[in-house]
Amino acid sequence: MSIDGRTIIVTGGGRGIGRTICVQAAKRGARVVVADANIDGARATCELLRTESAPCAAVQVDVTSKDQTERMAEEAKNAFGRIDALVNNAAYYYGLKKTSFDSVDPDEWDRVMSVNVKGAWLCSKAVFRYMRAGGGGKIVNISSGTAFTGTVGFPHYVASKAAVLGLTRALSRELGEYGICVNAVAPGYTETSASLSINGPELSETMAQTRAIKRSEWPEDIAGAVLFLCSGDSDFITGQTIVVDGGIILH
Ligand SMILES: NC(=O)c1ccc[n+]([C@@H]2O[C@H](COP(=O)([O-])OP(=O)(O)OC[C@H]3O[C@@H](n4cnc5c(N)ncnc54)[C@H](O)[C@@H]3O)[C@@H](O)[C@H]2O)c1
Repeated sequence: MSIDGRTIIVTGGGRGIGRTICVQAAKRGARVVVADANIDGARATCELLRTESAPCAAVQVDVTSKDQTERMAEEAKNAFGRIDALVNNAAYYYGLKKTSFDSVDPDEWDRVMSVNVKGAWLCSKAVFRYMRAGGGGKIVNISSGTAFTGTVGFPHYVASKAAVLGLTRALSRELGEYGICVNAVAPGYTETSASLSINGPELSETMAQTRAIKRSEWPEDIAGAVLFLCSGDSDFITGQTIVVDGGIILH
C-alpha cells in the first residue's frame, strides 16, 4: 500500500483520530495538510509530523464555511502542487450531551448536521476541481458504527453519521467518471478525548466485551483502513464502507 508522495488533507487533524491519521500518513511518506478549526491543534499535529521529517502544512478551517473550505483547498494546492486525497474526519462530537430524542436542542441538531454532513460535502466540493485536474483522487468520509447500531442518546449525531454514508454513495456515483473514489470508514467506539467527554471510561471495557476481538479500540486501529482507501491499492473500490470495530457489526 503506497501513499508515498501523495498530498492528503485531513480535516479535524488537530487531535484524536484525525491526528493519528496524519501521523500514520506521514510515516508512510505522504505530504499532509492538517486542517482544523483549532489552529493550535493543527500546528501541534504538524510539529509531531516534523519529527518524522514529513512535509506538512497546518490550515485553519471551519468546514461549515464554503469560503474557508475553498481557501483550505487552495492552500493545500499552493503548498504541495496537487491534492490526491481528502479525509473528511472533522465532526461535532466532543461534548455532546446524551439525552432522549425529544430533548435534543434544535440548534444543536442543526450544528451537528452542519459540521458532520454539510462540512464533508463542502470540503469534497472544494477539492474536486484540483482532483479532476490531477486526473483523479480519493475522498474518505469518517462515519461511525452508530449509524448501524442506532446508538441511543444522540439521534442527531447518529443521523449525521448515516447521512455521511448516503453522501458517500451519491458522490461515488457522480465522481467515478473523474477517477475519484469516494468511500467511508465507520469506526466503533474509540478512545479519544471526545468519546471520553460523552461517556465514562468504563464504556470502553463494556464495548470490548461485545467485540469479536475483545479489546478497546484506538485511533491507530482506524488509520490503516483510511490510508488504504487513499492509496492506489483501492483504485477499483468506491461507494463502500469499511467498518473498523473489532467485529461488532458483521455484514
Ligand atoms: N471517538 C469515537 O468513538 C468515534 C467513533 C466513531 C466515529 N468517530 C468519528 O471519528 C472522527 C474523529 O473523532 P474524534 O473522537 O477524534 O473527535 P474529536 O472531537 O477529538 O476531533 C474532531 C476534530 O474536528 C475538529 N473540528 C470540529 N468542528 C470543526 C469544524 N467546524 N471545522 C473544522 N474542524 C472541526 C476539532 O477541532 C477536532 O480537532 C469524527 O468524525 C467522529 O464522528 C469517532
